[in-house]
Amino acid sequence: MSGIGVKPQPDVLDVERVREDFPILGRRVHGKPLVYLDNAATTQKPQPVLDALFRYYTGSNANVHRGVHLLSQEATDAFEAGRVSVQRFLNAAHASEIIFTRNASEGVNLVAESFGRLKVRAADEIVITGMEHHSNIVPWQLLCERTGAILRVVPITDEGELRLDEMERLLTERTRLVAVTHLSNALGTVNPIPTIVEMAHHHGAAVLVDGAQAAYHMPVDVQALGCDFYVVTGHKLYGPTGIGALYGRQALLEAMPPYQGGGDMIRSVTFEKTTYNDLPHKFEAGTPHIAGVVGLGAAVEYIRGIGLDRIAVHERDLLEYATARLNEVPGLRLIGTARHKASILSFVLDGVHPHDIGTIVDREGVAIRTGHHCAQPVMERFGIPATARASLAVYNTRSDIDALIRALRKVREVFA
Ligand code: ALA
Repeated sequence: MSGIGVKPQPDVLDVERVREDFPILGRRVHGKPLVYLDNAATTQKPQPVLDALFRYYTGSNANVHRGVHLLSQEATDAFEAGRVSVQRFLNAAHASEIIFTRNASEGVNLVAESFGRLKVRAADEIVITGMEHHSNIVPWQLLCERTGAILRVVPITDEGELRLDEMERLLTERTRLVAVTHLSNALGTVNPIPTIVEMAHHHGAAVLVDGAQAAYHMPVDVQALGCDFYVVTGHKLYGPTGIGALYGRQALLEAMPPYQGGGDMIRSVTFEKTTYNDLPHKFEAGTPHIAGVVGLGAAVEYIRGIGLDRIAVHERDLLEYATARLNEVPGLRLIGTARHKASILSFVLDGVHPHDIGTIVDREGVAIRTGHHCAQPVMERFGIPATARASLAVYNTRSDIDALIRALRKVREVFA
């Protein structure tokens, strides 16, 4: 075929081109080409992120917000440019609504501590769901222990969907906050955040969305979602570990007390009284993870360059393909079959412990995660100790899924 008359398809992701950006995808494990399907645990890093880190450390390394010298100004500019990149990525109205944290967990802890001190009293209620990661459970339990507030949990269906009717029943004038995941790391369920926000706001409750899993699979617009807080982690966004971000609605962040004390978060300090810095610095005590922010900025710009709409279409195709292929494996049961799912396939195999699945497929070069995925209540809900989990990202292909299926056949042979 000459190709004449074939229209270019700008909306279709050129996955082979994308793969070239990720040096680690060229390596072999146990003598086999790496097939990386553990993206929900962490994603691999593209060359532009590695280059940004190298450039920062070799060209501009200095502390931020402190020096008049050129390197400090360059480091400050790079750091604050990272904030603007994250603002654009999440479509926050103001850069000052982006607070840098270590990870998504720290974002949740910050809100539990600071919003908790502002708003939560004994007998108030916090509503979470039965599909949360431990990071979106334990900080609320700690808050309830401190304040005497009560934790309420929205149950989930056998498919792994939220019981919104039960959520409506649990929301009362005592509800201060609803904390919910955008995309379940154990089930792949995508939750209807705008509906949940509307329900919660109707009862005067704030909403925190755990976006750790969602933000690298689908476009996130915090203004369109209407949520009050949204947390992400850099290492799942193709960026470095040790850096995350909290989006908070400006009026709420302004009213909330500081989370931690230290340098940079103050305006003035005397032994009698300390006054606090403006947003976002009020919530960023001490020297921040400057290189992490530089790397995160590069990572979200990289994602924006590809386009999350295109990534979502690519991954939806892979999810459908993988679901069909996994359903052909004898004795395999998918855990999490919600109507609205993304990029995560949790499963069990009759007569085989998930850890054995993980170990055998690893020998074939296929990296998946096995265990409770930091979501023990989900495992309890489904009456299982653990699952095997394949999770997808922008650089995965149908042939990665085929490699997983071939590796699962080996598992079947070993346990025949
Ligand atoms: N929360 C990450 C996962 O689901 C680590 O694997």
